[in-house]
Amino acid sequence: MIALACDHGGFMLKQDIIKHLDAVGLEFKDFGTYTEDSCDYPVFAVLASKAIVSGECERGIFICGTGIGVSLAANKVPGIRAAVCTNTYMAEKTRAHNDANVLALGARVVDTPLALDIVKTFLNTEFSGDERHARRVDMLKYLDSQLFGQ
Ligand code: RB5
Repeated sequence: MIALACDHGGFMLKQDIIKHLDAVGLEFKDFGTYTEDSCDYPVFAVLASKAIVSGECERGIFICGTGIGVSLAANKVPGIRAAVCTNTYMAEKTRAHNDANVLALGARVVDTPLALDIVKTFLNTEFSGDERHARRVDMLKYLDSQLFGQ
């Protein structure tokens, strides 16, 4: 299950991503926002992040104007590793090296065809599991446990 979240700036791109997920038969849960009315990205990013940490969803795709706001909010939630990606190289590496569980996209930064390529790469790339990458991700998890007791 993929968790989706956006603010008003990301709403239209989220609709395009939903069409893609429907077309390829991938299940998702949409945590809002559901209109283009101005809203606050932390609300939706944190709602969707909690669903990932709880195990209800495995990964997330969060969208705002730049991708930065939703990534900042998501990364406040212990257990979330959110990465803003503006190209497929970043999407591949953040899965393979960082085991990122949230892709953050900027609807005012990437157009829909590029965003969909980034989404496909993010969803189709597994964590490499290489010792050095696992060690570094473990350090991030350790920080969560030390700072937040999780
Ligand atoms: C909304 O105008 C915009 O600030 C927001 O979508 C996002 O880009 C924030 O990081």
